[in-house]
Amino acid sequence: MTDASRLVVGISGASGVIYALRALSALRDLGVESHVVASKAAEMTLSYETGLSPSVLRERADHLYKMPDVGAPIASGSFRTLGMLIAPCSVRTMSEIATGVTSSLLTRAADVVLKERRRLVLMVRETPFHLGHLRTMTQLTEMGAIIMPPLPAFYAKPETLDDMIDQSVGRALDLFGLDWTPTRRWGEDITEGARPAARTRKP
Ligand SMILES: Cc1cc2nc3c(=O)[nH]c(=O)nc-3n(C[C@H](O)[C@H](O)[C@H](O)COP(=O)(O)O)c2cc1C
Repeated sequence: MTDASRLVVGISGASGVIYALRALSALRDLGVESHVVASKAAEMTLSYETGLSPSVLRERADHLYKMPDVGAPIASGSFRTLGMLIAPCSVRTMSEIATGVTSSLLTRAADVVLKERRRLVLMVRETPFHLGHLRTMTQLTEMGAIIMPPLPAFYAKPETLDDMIDQSVGRALDLFGLDWTPTRRWGEDITEGARPAARTRKP
């Protein structure tokens, strides 16, 4: 097993647990081994938003760890991975990572990814943001993380909610160099209609 075939996936209790479920399906499609840890609040949103029980994570993850298990492989930098995707990422989890005071396997694994200078992508989900949130996102960006709120790309002409979700998941996986088929790309899959003609300015 090489680093290129493993990705750590953290699931926290922000709205949008479906992003995690789709990311796990995508990793299966791509033959990338998923190493998953989900918070208690993530289990709550999973049940509330999808009606599924936490056991679904055991089915969809290649390796599922418990939050207190700070002895898991993903708690160590010597365990090689492509990095970590946190989908969705709550403000609480984001803030804990920014402080470096990591109290669970999820935030410890993120801290490890940062210290090893690997890719950390946070699909932060909150709205609106206050100044403290924005400062935390700035700090994490300075530390090397990528803040990627799951915002829909309307130019991809989504027809369903699934299209929107898969586009965001696909663009997050792009950041790890993973090319997932459903991802629609401007200038490749999205060609019809082309670019709108440049507007001529009225004198
Ligand atoms: C249905 C539901 C939706 C939530 N949505 C969000 C959200 O979008 N963003 C957020 O930061 N917190 C959200 N929360 C609150 C978090 O779950 C809460 O702050 C929790 O302590 C986060 O813990 P975690 O980071 O360990 O998962 C939501 C909670 C529930 C029950």
